[in-house]
Amino acid sequence: MCGIVGYIGFEDVKEIILQGLEKLEYRGYDSAGIAVLHDNEVYVCKEKGRIADLRQHIDKSVTGNIGIGHTRWATHGTPNQINSHPHQSSSKRFTLVHNGIIENEEELRQKYLSDTEFQSDTDTEVIVQLIEKFVNEGEEVELAIRHTMSRLSGSYALAIIDKQDMNTLYAAKNKTPLLAGKGEGFNMLASDAMAMINHTNLFYEIEDKEFLKITKDDIEIYTIYGNKVNRQPYKADIDASDTEKGPYAHYMMKEIEEQPFVIRKIMSEYSNKCGNMNISTEILQDIRNCDKIYIIACGTSYHAGLVGKQFFEKIAHKPAEVIIASEFIYNMPLITEKPLFMFVTQSGETADCRAVLVKVKEMGYKTLTLTNVKGSTLSREADHTLLLYAGPEIAVASTKAYTAQITVLAILAAMVDNKIGIDVFKELSKIAYIMETLCNDREKYKKLAEEYLLKTRNCFYIGRSMDYFLCLEAALKLKEISYIQTEGFAAGELKHGTIALIEKDTPVIAVITQENINLNTRSNIKEVKARGAKTMVISMRRISQEKDNIVVDDAHELLSPLAAIIPVQYLAYYAALLRGCDIDKPRNLAKSVTVE
Ligand code: G6P
Repeated sequence: MCGIVGYIGFEDVKEIILQGLEKLEYRGYDSAGIAVLHDNEVYVCKEKGRIADLRQHIDKSVTGNIGIGHTRWATHGTPNQINSHPHQSSSKRFTLVHNGIIENEEELRQKYLSDTEFQSDTDTEVIVQLIEKFVNEGEEVELAIRHTMSRLSGSYALAIIDKQDMNTLYAAKNKTPLLAGKGEGFNMLASDAMAMINHTNLFYEIEDKEFLKITKDDIEIYTIYGNKVNRQPYKADIDASDTEKGPYAHYMMKEIEEQPFVIRKIMSEYSNKCGNMNISTEILQDIRNCDKIYIIACGTSYHAGLVGKQFFEKIAHKPAEVIIASEFIYNMPLITEKPLFMFVTQSGETADCRAVLVKVKEMGYKTLTLTNVKGSTLSREADHTLLLYAGPEIAVASTKAYTAQITVLAILAAMVDNKIGIDVFKELSKIAYIMETLCNDREKYKKLAEEYLLKTRNCFYIGRSMDYFLCLEAALKLKEISYIQTEGFAAGELKHGTIALIEKDTPVIAVITQENINLNTRSNIKEVKARGAKTMVISMRRISQEKDNIVVDDAHELLSPLAAIIPVQYLAYYAALLRGCDIDKPRNLAKSVTVE
């Protein structure tokens, strides 16, 4: 959600910034812009639409060694050219890009900027106008920025250039991700490491309410009060090639096919020298000592959390509850005496999860984050972290991170207390193998997508027990990339209202991997068929029937929904492909949702 790139150094910045912004495209955006400082002049170019559109409009003759760029996902003001970033102060001395939301913008406009003529409808413009106002009143630039920061309430990551200073790039951060990258003779800024990894793998984490002064040789970090912070950079272990598509048409397909590898990678990361499962005893002790696990998550991670709850309750006999982060914060359930809060988040930056983390930490509770991004905010701020080792996930629709979350949750539950004696590693190896065989059936999924999903307006996934959680994720995948209105339903619940929506040829896809509900779900299929639905069945081999459309090889019932994720991800992929949708960057969506 929104992306920032900044560069100061010796090369012409345009390509560096544009390529950096392209690496951030996956976060989601609807407009983009760039500012280049050259000969004490600032060149600004911004456009609604894609970075490819922005490229067309950039004046190639402009060159400069200091610049900032932005991809915007509209919050305040419609996505258009005027509201795109960068924004400039009235005299055009200061140029700024911003991620986040300023909650008191109205109050600031009235209190300090009643005489200012605003160009855009954005909250961002208030920031750049405030900086100029304080400078006009006689403050040094650094002080003016820090004073502005202290008046802002809300979230921000800022990159700022001053037309009168060709040697400095300024930045600030609060509750929105921002990293500084250290180079040889240049330095960079970006919302995440992927935008800088082609140039450097040495990064500085920035804490909330910190201010940065960056020259081509130095990165100085200060608190909002102007005290210098001494922090060492860390080396990121991302490989630049991990962020490339390779031979795949879309990142989503690449990431679907990486899932067997991800499971094996996780097993090797969480095993000891003898090949047995291994997780830090401190983490295990904290979970064993708690009386209930509260899993907090959003989107796909929430669906992985629902499966995780089953693992903790069925494998470790430990009570668990799963709560959507944005709901928890305003409607907190009764908390038990010794809870443990587990944050499941691919990005480690989701603002709703972070709000819960801050709150439960204030209440003194233990916290653990499961995330794919080392050094992310939720990882830094929780008591413990378990990494997902899925590698960078670029497609907005999450696939391999979901599998990684479920894999780590299964290992964790079995290590906390394996009451049912499940050999998790053996079962996961089987799942990885089954996934590989399922990936070979691409053509079949494409044909099914053509037959069932090409023209339809809506679609239903139905399943019971563990399959129901898979149906929720399957429905989210299909709707988010193909725009077909899709719901995941507990199969038995359909007849309590929603069956009214079934018409002739409405696709209803049933998932049946659990033996004890096989016949029940099959009778639900008959109910919808009798009302005209076009049904498709995805089943496990041992309970499959002749006419089932997709049969998944047998696996342990607790883990079988993990194998069945492959066909439903592919159905979504091909439905979107056949309907001409932008698979990796679906409309209105952001990969990393950094505003509440
Ligand atoms: C966004 C993404 C989803 C993701 C959700 C939670 O909506 O588009 O794919 O599941 O955020 O993100 P997190 O990084 O916390 O897992």
